[in-house]
This record gives sequence, structure tokens and C-alpha cells, in this order.
Amino acid sequence: MDTLFIPVILGTVRQGRLSEPVANFILEQVQQQADVETELIDIRALSLPMDDAGPQAKIPALSETMLRADGYIIVVPEYNHTYPGLLKHMLDLNRDEYLHKSVGLCTVSAGPFGGIRAGEALLPTLKAFGLGTIVPDLNFGNVKTLVDEAFGKLTEDAQTAYKRRFGRFMAELLWLTQTLKYGRENFAQGS
Ligand SMILES: Cc1cc2nc3c(=O)[nH]c(=O)nc-3n(C[C@H](O)[C@H](O)[C@H](O)COP(=O)(O)O)c2cc1C
Repeated sequence: MDTLFIPVILGTVRQGRLSEPVANFILEQVQQQADVETELIDIRALSLPMDDAGPQAKIPALSETMLRADGYIIVVPEYNHTYPGLLKHMLDLNRDEYLHKSVGLCTVSAGPFGGIRAGEALLPTLKAFGLGTIVPDLNFGNVKTLVDEAFGKLTEDAQTAYKRRFGRFMAELLWLTQTLKYGRENFAQGS
């Protein structure tokens, strides 16, 4: 199998964000996969342009990373029943870079529904980019109970529970990522 590059996108800039320990946990799990390279794309660390939108406004290093990626994991919190606007703004900086690649969603919320509304709301945008989504999401509901805020990490119990769920999530993501990579490399687009 070729080495796959699957970065983890942390989709909020909020001070005190609990999506950060979730993203770090996911990053650690992906780092342990054989034949997978990863890195964290923290949208707070980007100098997001505010004077334009869409594919005309690019951050070259980000575009290179998005182009190099074979698939993506997006960690997205739920804000007022949807995803953060700055995540959308960041995603909109690229377009063709995402075409025919895979994406898995990790949703985060304070409430009991695990941020599923944020994940569902993101789907039309992912479709617009030609991204293929996997069926299983990882939903981190009641996230305050999952995070040991003193250490900025998931609790031991949460890690145990989510490691099991991550296995199925990652197996699906790897399957779709490999399949789409094969397709990109072996079939002319639209044939
Ligand atoms: C502007 C805003 C709106 C929010 N709306 C919701 C919501 O609709 N449902 C929910 O369960 N939690 C909501 N929350 C709480 C977040 O889901 C919570 O902060 C969680 O920890 C994930 O976001 P974080 O990474 O910013 O911490 C909201 C938080 C903010 C800052």
C-alpha cells in the first residue's frame, strides 16, 4: 500500500476550545497507523485572509498541504446548530485540491447529540468540493465529561471508549482514501 497523507483539521479558533483535546487525540491515533502520514491543521494558526473569499484568496502552504493530502479528518464543534463560520472560510480558500478525496468527521458538542448537526450541516459543502464522506462519524457529545481540563486531554475512560470507535472510523476512511487514490491515479476524470 502507498503511504497516505491524511491531515487532521481543527475547525475552531475559540479560546478554551474543547475540540483541541479531541483533535489531539485523533491526531495521536492517526499517527499510530501504519503507512499513514498526518499533521494538524489548526485554523487558529493560519492567517486567514479577510479581504476576499473563495479560491482566489489562497494561503500557498495550506493549498500545498490540501493538494498533497489523500484524505482529511475534520474536527468540528457545533455552534448554534451548525459548524463554525471560520472553518467554512478556511475550507473555501481551496477547491480543486479536494476533488475526489475522502473525508471523515469528528463532531464535538457541549450537548448530548455530539455535534451531529454541525456534521450534517457541513455535508453540502463537502459535496460541493467533490469530497467523499464515510458513513461513521465520531461524535463527542457532553464533551466536558470527556476532557480532563487540568491536563488538556481526554480522560482515560474517554480514550478507552473512543479508541474502539476510532478503529471502525479509520478502517472506513482508509478504505475510501485508498479507493479514491487508486481511481485518481488510474481512471481519467469523468470516464
Ligand atoms: C457560539 C457557540 C454556540 C454554541 N452552540 C451550541 C449548540 O448549538 N449545541 C451544543 O451542543 N453546544 C453548543 N455550543 C457549545 C460547544 O459545542 C462547546 O463549546 C463544545 O465544547 C465544542 O466547542 P469548542 O471546541 O469551542 O469547545 C456552542 C458554543 C459556542 C461558542
